[in-house]
Amino acid sequence: MASAFPDGCIVYESDGVVLAGDLSTEQIAACVAAGARSWLYLNDDANPNCPRASVEDAKVPYACVPLLDPLNDLTPNVIEAFTSHMASAARPAIVQCSTATRAGIPYLLHLARVNKLPAASAISHAHRASPPFKFTERPPLVRAVATALSHPMRSLVFRQLFDTAGSSTYTYLLADHPGGDAVLVDPVVEQVDRDLKLVEDLGLKLKYVVNTHCHADHVTGSGLIKRKLPGVRSVIAKDSGAKADVHVAHGDRVEFGDAFLEVRATPGHTEGCLSYVCDNMVFTGDALLVRGCGRTDFQGGSAETLYDSVHAQIFTLPDDTVVYPAHDYKGHRSSTVGEEKRLNPRLSKSKAEFVEIMGNLGLPYPKKIDEALPLNLVCGIQEE
Ligand SMILES: [Fe+2]
Repeated sequence: MASAFPDGCIVYESDGVVLAGDLSTEQIAACVAAGARSWLYLNDDANPNCPRASVEDAKVPYACVPLLDPLNDLTPNVIEAFTSHMASAARPAIVQCSTATRAGIPYLLHLARVNKLPAASAISHAHRASPPFKFTERPPLVRAVATALSHPMRSLVFRQLFDTAGSSTYTYLLADHPGGDAVLVDPVVEQVDRDLKLVEDLGLKLKYVVNTHCHADHVTGSGLIKRKLPGVRSVIAKDSGAKADVHVAHGDRVEFGDAFLEVRATPGHTEGCLSYVCDNMVFTGDALLVRGCGRTDFQGGSAETLYDSVHAQIFTLPDDTVVYPAHDYKGHRSSTVGEEKRLNPRLSKSKAEFVEIMGNLGLPYPKKIDEALPLNLVCGIQEE
């Protein structure tokens, strides 16, 4: 299909989508001859380059959804019009604007919806597509598209909780909307009453307790929460070796109401470490900490693997993705992908330097590991 479309058309063969800017009458005819079976135009019909007459003469279904100013025009109605058009439009589907820049927007919104990509993953896809979507060259457009991608998650409830009892663990509460379905990421057994009180105070329905990995420094609250709130299901990586109601792997999704966590495998601190992407946030467990990372000297850890995981799965997210780690010992609460790429004293280095650093940390044996690990393999509670 690629070769038949005229110059200037950007063909994404796998999805049967062709992005175009202004086209001459001859170029429109060439698109039709190449097999175009649907047409979406993003300027209004008054535009002197409007292809409507030629497209309709050729009996190709034509739709016009103006997107003249993406910074203001990406309203819920326009997003809905784009995604429903892209879902049903016959392929090859032409999406045309003036310079093939805005044309990538309906296509990306469609991809994000069909593949259930969080905003951060969808923007990352736009940058890394071949060729990259042209709007990624313009940061204000990228921000507008990210906001549009966040639309279903705009009412997301988010709380960051901290374990002051000693493990310095962050627990995250997320719900799809106020009063909606919720997940707790990395609950700590000593803080279960606090966490469940917050769930109740906010009127949320807790669906899942999710662990980023089998922790060595604290006992997970998963089992106790399940005991107190029957129906809640525990989630951990298949590769963690730990018991749970739901075992997940890279590419899976943990859905709660209209929202979801995208599962990314980020082993290296342990063999079964996962990061979870939600909207423009990534929950990195101990794979990536603010200006640091988890140790790699036990639980199947590997500095080489951790370096590759962080670079392939976290540093490929947009720079403004907010990083929420499982711990902090210096008072930081969050960071961004861009910040850590630039400033992380370990992971901004070459792989060889990173391996050398991790091999020379000389850390003491973790205090709670002998108690925590066996318990965390069974959701934090020994079977009675
Ligand atoms: Fe850990």
